[in-house]
Amino acid sequence: MDLVWSKAIKIKVHSIIWNNTLIKIDMKREIFLMIVLGFSQITTGQKKEIPHLEKLNGTVQLIVNNEPFTMLSGELHNSSTGSEHYMQPIWNRMAEKKLNTVIAPISWELIEPEEGKFDFSIVDSAVEGARKEGLKLVLIWFGSWKNGKSTYIPGWVKTDTKRFPLVKDKERGTMAILSTLGVNSLKSDAKAFSALMQHIKQIDSQEHTVVMIQVQNEIGTLDYRASYGMPNIYMRDFSDVANKKFNGPVPNELIDYLTKNKSKLHPALEKAWGDNGYLKKGNWEELFGPGKQYSGDDWKNNFSYYTEELFMAWHYAKYVGEVAKQGKDEYALPMYVNAWMKQPNGREPGQYPSGGPLPQVFDIWRAAAPSIDFFAPDIYEVEIFDWVSEEFSTSGNPLMIPETKSNPASSARAFYALGKYDAIGYAPFGIDGNGILNTTSPNDESLKTAYASLENILPIISKYRGTEKMTGLFIDSSKEKDEVVMGEYVISLKRNSFAEAQGLLGVDIENKNEKEEEAAGFLIIQLAENEFLVAGGIGSSILTISKSNNDSPTQAGYLSVDEVSYSNGEMRTHRLNGDETAFGGPVVKKGESKIFKMKMYTY
Ligand code: DGJ
Repeated sequence: MDLVWSKAIKIKVHSIIWNNTLIKIDMKREIFLMIVLGFSQITTGQKKEIPHLEKLNGTVQLIVNNEPFTMLSGELHNSSTGSEHYMQPIWNRMAEKKLNTVIAPISWELIEPEEGKFDFSIVDSAVEGARKEGLKLVLIWFGSWKNGKSTYIPGWVKTDTKRFPLVKDKERGTMAILSTLGVNSLKSDAKAFSALMQHIKQIDSQEHTVVMIQVQNEIGTLDYRASYGMPNIYMRDFSDVANKKFNGPVPNELIDYLTKNKSKLHPALEKAWGDNGYLKKGNWEELFGPGKQYSGDDWKNNFSYYTEELFMAWHYAKYVGEVAKQGKDEYALPMYVNAWMKQPNGREPGQYPSGGPLPQVFDIWRAAAPSIDFFAPDIYEVEIFDWVSEEFSTSGNPLMIPETKSNPASSARAFYALGKYDAIGYAPFGIDGNGILNTTSPNDESLKTAYASLENILPIISKYRGTEKMTGLFIDSSKEKDEVVMGEYVISLKRNSFAEAQGLLGVDIENKNEKEEEAAGFLIIQLAENEFLVAGGIGSSILTISKSNNDSPTQAGYLSVDEVSYSNGEMRTHRLNGDETAFGGPVVKKGESKIFKMKMYTY
């Protein structure tokens, strides 16, 4: 009941519906009624706040309907929301997979097929479908850009390149990418996005099925061919307008930001600006030096064509920041931008989208787009998972992974991402299958298995997020063992090769060298000095807790190991103190995930 005191006092109430029963009221009892109404307001809850981000323990939580919410998610294929009939059966499948949130695209071309004429049937269908299954939604605005290109813009935008100008590469070839400097493009994109947000407000401001918005997708100038040895001519927009801006003054707004935040800037930005004398006036090359190609091995810490990337970041951030701002003016859901990562086979801007929100240009994005709440990495190159997660979970940015591989190793990594990096959301891509790229195998139950364990302990995870009491461990064929010291104990995760070799676990050891088969991940929470809650698995693995100090005269043993499970939300424990821990700790067989409570004692 959302009736507030002031309203209760103003109206003369002669009857009310209470628990579906009509109750006639004697006016003498009016005062009594007001007390009851006021009381019910207190007991039946506060008003559900709009989904928002809140700082807690130095990190960020997503709050949905006044409670912390962690997104156990997956992203649909790009075109899965391309029609109502196609998307209808998807929601039930997603709920069966134990997702609590689906990341789903909404394309500009479908909501505004004719200029100024909006059709939100796709949005309504997505919200209804998700709601029916108890799912939350993150909607991706496929507006001006998706993977750098402008493929989801309406036909009336695509075909009017005068009004909606395109990027030119260095050789003056026209690219199918809207230029960030197209004033009309920004106006039209922002108008459509505002209409979308207004519509979401209309249909969802009570229930909050839509909890967040991704604004555009993997933006930046690039050509896919550039990754494969073609000359890089895509590091920035070389249209006439862009050339003029590049050779014109760096905006004061950016210089002010750099000056104010000088001690906190990304080292590469601080160096580029410092090497050129911390100038407060001048064009992009005068302030940051001419961009050069870097061809050495330390590609993570050196930046090819950095000045071009800074320039593009500024213009993308200005554009996307304005689109997000106008959308938030209608309905202020949390909004983020995702990034295609710099990676071994795409080390230069133009080989990955130039100007997207990568760590080396976070400062530029923060200066230009304060309406964007955070930046999110798409991590397909899992070899750089730790590096990327580190970079995206520092300087106040919460980690959310809206896209990653979809396979058993990735499912195991969900435990690790939540535990080690306090991720607020995790989402393998192509979760609904049937796509061209990164399709989930229909027989792969691993994500469902992982999320089925995680869903039960989300309140505990939220409580420990941002504290040193929660972390994660991960192993695969490149890492035999992972361990962490917590208080007096060292917690180790290993492959259970002994038991496997003995055939004790009944697993197929033929696949031993398959990296994906070998991955296992765990989330570890230290509940008390001598008590741990651990959750994880998928690859065959064993989790051991022992004394961290080898010289200690005493040893640590398991006072008890309990497998934890849930039945209709009720927690149950099952004691395992015999053969089940005989290999050094509880074992998880291939394909499984488990939760254990482990209590320690010293002897
Ligand atoms: C990254 C993009 O952001 C997605 O939209 C999709 O195209 C995937 N790549 C496919 O791997």
